[in-house]
Amino acid sequence: MATLTIRPGNPLRGTTSIPGDKSLSHRALMLGAIAKGETQIRGWLPAGDTLATLDSVQRLGVRVTQHDATTLTVGGGGFHAPEKPLDFVNAGTGIRLMAGLVAGQDFESVLDGSAQLRRRPMRRITDPLRQMNANITDTNGCAPLTIRPSQLKGIHYEQKVASAQVKSALLLAGLYANSPTVVVESAGPGRDHTERMLKVMGVPLTVEGEYITIMPFTDLSPLDLTIPGDFSSAAFLIVAGTLVHDSKILLTGVNTNDRRTGLLEVLERMQVDVKLQNHRFEGGEPVADILITTQETTATTVHGSEVVRMIDEFPILMVLATQSAGETRVREAKELRVKETDRIAVMAGELRKMGADIIEYPDGFAVKGPQQLKGAVVDSHDDHRVGMSLAVAGLVADGETIIEDAGCIHDSFPGFETVLEQLGVELEWET
Ligand code: S3P
Repeated sequence: MATLTIRPGNPLRGTTSIPGDKSLSHRALMLGAIAKGETQIRGWLPAGDTLATLDSVQRLGVRVTQHDATTLTVGGGGFHAPEKPLDFVNAGTGIRLMAGLVAGQDFESVLDGSAQLRRRPMRRITDPLRQMNANITDTNGCAPLTIRPSQLKGIHYEQKVASAQVKSALLLAGLYANSPTVVVESAGPGRDHTERMLKVMGVPLTVEGEYITIMPFTDLSPLDLTIPGDFSSAAFLIVAGTLVHDSKILLTGVNTNDRRTGLLEVLERMQVDVKLQNHRFEGGEPVADILITTQETTATTVHGSEVVRMIDEFPILMVLATQSAGETRVREAKELRVKETDRIAVMAGELRKMGADIIEYPDGFAVKGPQQLKGAVVDSHDDHRVGMSLAVAGLVADGETIIEDAGCIHDSFPGFETVLEQLGVELEWET
C-alpha cells in the first residue's frame, strides 16, 4: 500500500501538462470499440480506472494496440461474448456506461468490480435500462450485474438524479433500440462528452434545451482524436497554487468544457483570479492553459445546478474552504455521499484529524475559515480525489502530513506525486 508524505514549506512554481481527461478516455475506448474501423487516440489517460475499461474492451474481443502509455489504436468492429466477467475495479463510469452498451448486444455479460464499486448504487441505471426492455440481474441494486440479450426499445426518460453516467448509459443503449430514446436532463446539466463524441462519430443525436434525442444507429465512424487534460485533475493544482504562498503555476492543455468548470466560477466568487489563455479546440472540446498565482480567498455558497458542473471538485473545495475567510456552505449535493466514498463524511473526518472544524449536512457541508491545519496521519479510504485533496491540505498545514493508502491517487492522476515534486514540493512516495 503506497504512502505519500507531504512536507510543506516550498512554493509551487513551474509549468506542467495535465494527464488526459478520464471521462473522455473511457468514452473514446468504448465508442472506438463499436465503430466501423480503426480509432486513433492520443493523450489517453493510462490510470487505474481507464485501464480497467481497456481490459474490459479487450475481453469483449476488440483489438487495442497501445503504442505508448497514452497513444492507442482501437480496432473497432464491435463486441463479442466475453469469456469471463468484466472487472471495472473502482471505475463507476466504466461499469455504468458499459452496462448501457452491452444491454443491446446478442450475448450475455457479467459486469463487476472491487468491493468499493460493489457498494455503489446501480438502480439509477438498471431501472431505466429495464424500462428499455434490458434483461439485467443485479445484486441488491448493486454489481455484479448480469446482462442478457434482448431487443431494446426507446423510452422518454426524465432524469431523477443529475448524473452524466446515467444519461450516457441510456444514450449508449439507445444506439441499439428499435425506436428513438429521449433523455431529459430535468435534474441539471451533466457533462456532455458522450453527446459531443457521438455526434462527431455521425450518430443522429439532437440536443434541444434539456431534451436529448438519439436515433437507433450502429454505423459509427471511427475517431481520430487528441484527448485534452482533465479539469478535475487540474483542480487540485489550481487550489494548491492558489493557497500555497508565493506560487505561480501554468497548467497546459486543460479541457475547459463549461459543464465541468463550475469550480472556476466558485473561485471567481472567492475573489480568485484564475487566468485562462491560449484557447483552442481538441477532440471537439474547448481547451486552454490555466495560470494560477497565490491569492487570498473568501467564502462562498454552492448549490443548485452549479453542483453537477463541479461534482468531482467538492473534496478539494472543502480544503479550500478551510483556508478562506468567512463561512463556505455547500447544499443540494447529496450525490457526494455515493461517490467512491461518502465524500462528505470521509473528507470531514480526515480534515478533523488535521484539526479542522467542519459541519456536515445530509446534502453538503459548512466550513468557517481560515483555519490553521496541523500535519497528521490521514487516510484516502481508497478514494483518489480524497487522497489528492488531503495532499493539498498537507501543503498548507503546519508540519508533515502522511497520507495512507495513497496508491488510489493513480486511479485518475498517474504521476501526481511526480508533478508535485517537479513543481517544487518536498515529498516522499513509498510503496
Ligand atoms: C462522470 C460523471 C460523474 C463524475 C465521474 C465521471 C462521467 O458521475 O462524478 O467522475 O464520466 O460521466 P455521475 O454521473 O455519477 O455524477
